[in-house]
Amino acid sequence: MRERMDRRQFVRTGGRIAAVAMIAPLSACDRALMGRGQDDPALPSHRAPRGPARDIEIVAEPAEVEIGPLGVFRRWTYGGHYPGPEIRLREGERLRARLVNRLPDPTTIHWHGVPVPNEADGVPGVTQEAVRPGDDFVYDFNARPAGSYIYHSHVGLQLDRGLHAPLIVEEATPHVEYDREHTVVIDDLLAGEPEMPDQDGRRGPGMMGRRGMMGRRGMMGMMGDETPDYLAFLINGRPPEDAPVLDVTEGERVRLRLMNPASATHFRVALGGHRMTVTHTDGRPVEPVEVDALEIGMGERYDVVVDANNPGIWTLAARGLGGNPSPARAILRYRGVNRSAPAGLPEGLGSGRLLRLTDLRSVETVGEPARAPDRILDLDLRREMMMQGRWTIGGQTWPDADPLPMSPGERVRVRMTNRSPHPHPMHLHGFFFRVGDALKETVVVPGHMGRIAFDFIADEPGDWFFHCHHLYHMESGMARVFSYI
Ligand code: C2O
Ligand code: CU
Repeated sequence: MRERMDRRQFVRTGGRIAAVAMIAPLSACDRALMGRGQDDPALPSHRAPRGPARDIEIVAEPAEVEIGPLGVFRRWTYGGHYPGPEIRLREGERLRARLVNRLPDPTTIHWHGVPVPNEADGVPGVTQEAVRPGDDFVYDFNARPAGSYIYHSHVGLQLDRGLHAPLIVEEATPHVEYDREHTVVIDDLLAGEPEMPDQDGRRGPGMMGRRGMMGRRGMMGMMGDETPDYLAFLINGRPPEDAPVLDVTEGERVRLRLMNPASATHFRVALGGHRMTVTHTDGRPVEPVEVDALEIGMGERYDVVVDANNPGIWTLAARGLGGNPSPARAILRYRGVNRSAPAGLPEGLGSGRLLRLTDLRSVETVGEPARAPDRILDLDLRREMMMQGRWTIGGQTWPDADPLPMSPGERVRVRMTNRSPHPHPMHLHGFFFRVGDALKETVVVPGHMGRIAFDFIADEPGDWFFHCHHLYHMESGMARVFSYI
């Protein structure tokens, strides 16, 4: 897939220069000259892209995609692939990615987790106008720090049409050794088109017609919170009946980059016959911790290393926490083992040592002295019945929401209380935050009065989106924007 993108790069070289110049990111100096309004803190950007660039083209386009025995689906794709093609970069390498929009609707790309310059962040109406059909847009940034990331559309419900893909930034020197790696993209698949439920939780005729299940379910879907009734859970775009095979050789240490770009499903992940050593969360290295299972919320990533010391054919499974579909599967197959199907699902799906948030200890010392916060924001997460049942952060619903304040250089503490029964994977753009002893940018706030606090240093200019990564919560208002005052 990478070859394919490289090939395209040559085809369009002619038109590239002009367009890049047009949208070149502002330098700190330009910004100071242009001003950003009266309150402009003139905070210099630390992220202006520099160095020779790797130019790629990403075409967003509808495509017919075969999903094993489930049949052919019309997905919205990057380059005809679902999930989209993995992009791999060296740490610090500059990426100039031209998004070409061949979809019927406007679109953007968000580089989930990568601290990009604000103008490359891909949030429609906040950092850019969405790219109209037939238009293009160049995202330009240096890929750092190393880690496992996702790139995806940030417009409407496009994520649930398939517009997501892995972005891997390879470290110069990993803090754990491994011999081989596999990327594991876990997703939820709709039978039809994504739609927002109306006030009664009813979805449009598209889904009713395709499946006829919604009516029976009391209109709200399985979770009673706008989560659609998914047809299947997939790994790397394949259903359990046609699971992808991950090859290993006995004696190897295998790194699995587990990613959850699903629109509305949390998963519990386990591997038969092996424990998993968690080495990274949201791309950031942590002190290795061995577990039988982990839960991964929408937008989260966990890298794990597995000691391939138990030859056979094993199932890596991701069970949706809520929803009917059977667990997504991949097959871990040792070379030279000629048995057919593996035994059932891994025990870790239901029992064993589960990774806890408090297990995660960053191995990085970030430029972040352990000082008291300069500002504390208390934000309730809840659905407001007085506001048509819309999801809110701090009592407000996007886009009719005040900016959340921050000042240049501040250490901002966000304390969230979840006044709903549903877990919310809360994602901050632009910054890693410290939660407990870990660095992350997406953290699940458990339901039923779950409380999570995180701190980040506001040291990069721009307006930065902050939202629930449950797509249907976000689209129903569960988002705010951090702005400098
Ligand atoms: Cu992955 Cu604002 O999102
Ligand atoms: Cu949510």
